[in-house]
Amino acid sequence: MTVMRHLLDTQHLSRAAALEILDVAEDMADTQRREVKKLPTLRGRTVVNLFFEDSTRTRISFEAAAKRLSADVINFSAKGSSVSKGESLQDTAQTLQAMGADAVVIRHGASGAPRTLATSGWITAGVVNAGDGTHEHPTQALLDAFTIRKRTYGDDSRGRDLDGIRVTIVGDVLHSRVARSNVWLLHTLGAQVTLVAPPTLVPQDVSGWPVEIDYDLDHAIAAGPDALMMLRIQLERMSAAYFPTEREYSRRYGLDARRLDALADGSIVLHPGPMNRGLEISAEAADSPRSTVLEQVANGVSVRMAVLYLLLAGERPETEREDAR
Ligand code: NCD
Repeated sequence: MTVMRHLLDTQHLSRAAALEILDVAEDMADTQRREVKKLPTLRGRTVVNLFFEDSTRTRISFEAAAKRLSADVINFSAKGSSVSKGESLQDTAQTLQAMGADAVVIRHGASGAPRTLATSGWITAGVVNAGDGTHEHPTQALLDAFTIRKRTYGDDSRGRDLDGIRVTIVGDVLHSRVARSNVWLLHTLGAQVTLVAPPTLVPQDVSGWPVEIDYDLDHAIAAGPDALMMLRIQLERMSAAYFPTEREYSRRYGLDARRLDALADGSIVLHPGPMNRGLEISAEAADSPRSTVLEQVANGVSVRMAVLYLLLAGERPETEREDAR
């Protein structure tokens, strides 16, 4: 078993490490089908959920994952904490260290905050990025890859990558850490990635990404992708007008019933949630048998169990702990 020190992004995650997480997640998913879902694996370990940004499913998912491994969980949300009184990330981190945190799951509005925490020397805990600004959201990409692999290979998934699978990611790529994490991970696993968005929502640095760009959703659907990943329009991150009206966006880039029908047999529809029904995705698409939205949520717990397990189970060599300080 590889021991992971932190999970900060997918850009630097190797194929072997990614497959190990996905395969351990398969084992975790098997345990979640049992009547008693709780495993004793992380008894005595403490996981802190440190959320500086709103989140429902990601925080609950990490909490469920940690509890099912019998870890103690401390939920720390920035609202109502000393952070709103101006306490710095350093002071917060040092408080967690003094409380004996073994892993810190952090969501932060600033891109790079998890790396700062991991490399600062303020804490010895392993750090998991649960979404930082518009940078990355690695466990989301891992649960998406797990979901695509499971729908493609079923019980035969273990050990397989996504070689040759075509994934089209649609929507607000500019503001999406989910898109960035998916681009890197899908590429590492051998998938072919196409991004579809209005020109205003395509990031400027995209020329260095291993993707194709298409500005026309109907054209991209006609190409017959195996998976279509719809992104949420992140109105809270938009300081300017990136499209004329919501109606116009929906008409050109929304997954409506007509486009759903045009998808090739067997292709699936993903969405990380929370969905803006009627904007980027219609109710027909969200609730159709092609939609994996609820599978993604369930798989998210298994994937986060795998990540916490690989981070915390077993003994970390003392030297590695020293190095990381
Ligand atoms: C995503 C996020 O917060 O980055 N959601 C999530 O983790 N479930 C995507 C989004 O907010 O659109």
